[in-house]
Amino acid sequence: MTQDELKGLVGQAALQYVVPGEIVGVGTGSTVNRFIEALASMKDRIPGAVSSSVASTERLRAIGVRVFDANEVGELSVYIDGADEIDGRGHMVKGGGAALTREKIVAAQSRRFVCIADESKLVEALGAFPIPVEVIPMATARITRQFAAMGGQARLRAKDGAPLVTDNGQHILDVSGLRVTDPLRFESDVNQWPGVVTVGVFAHQKAAVCLLGTAKGVRTIE
Ligand code: A5P
Repeated sequence: MTQDELKGLVGQAALQYVVPGEIVGVGTGSTVNRFIEALASMKDRIPGAVSSSVASTERLRAIGVRVFDANEVGELSVYIDGADEIDGRGHMVKGGGAALTREKIVAAQSRRFVCIADESKLVEALGAFPIPVEVIPMATARITRQFAAMGGQARLRAKDGAPLVTDNGQHILDVSGLRVTDPLRFESDVNQWPGVVTVGVFAHQKAAVCLLGTAKGVRTIE
């Protein structure tokens, strides 16, 4: 099976976690795009969705799903999103699509995080995938030095020859060279640095369930 077919498999499998009659939280990325396609078959059974990015909002509206502002609704039963890395305990690296801040907000508003990913995303320890960190632009150089002191190399993410600007108007640093052995502590520590908006390690908002696409079918890790 191709990676895209594996994404399609878990996108479809995630439908079983959508609660009829309730608003669903929707993440961002190529795997979630496959979930959104599958959600078209259930769109008349849910009031709508809370979305984690402009890109997902557009896709949801295109299939006729109403998108609510996070402030208009209360706690969500479930949030469905992909990951760049996930370990066996549900800790993730996210933000390869630059949507990490809104993803963490919607995840925090949801009782259950269901992660959907192809099996290449399962790792023993987080950090081989450069860790995305959304930052206030004026703090970029200092935060880069703070990561260097930890042994990490932070690189400013660019798009079309200029720094990428997130949906929130900020920049992204991608940090390589770190092996995150204590995700909860790493997330808490980096969150304290002035100028950090969001660190792309999801340990406090970890996945309760992971649906992994494998050649043998969907493997569920709870
Ligand atoms: C978006 O910012 C990310 O957190 C995505 O959820 C993550 O990058 C996974 O994306 P893919 O499903 O495209 O691999």
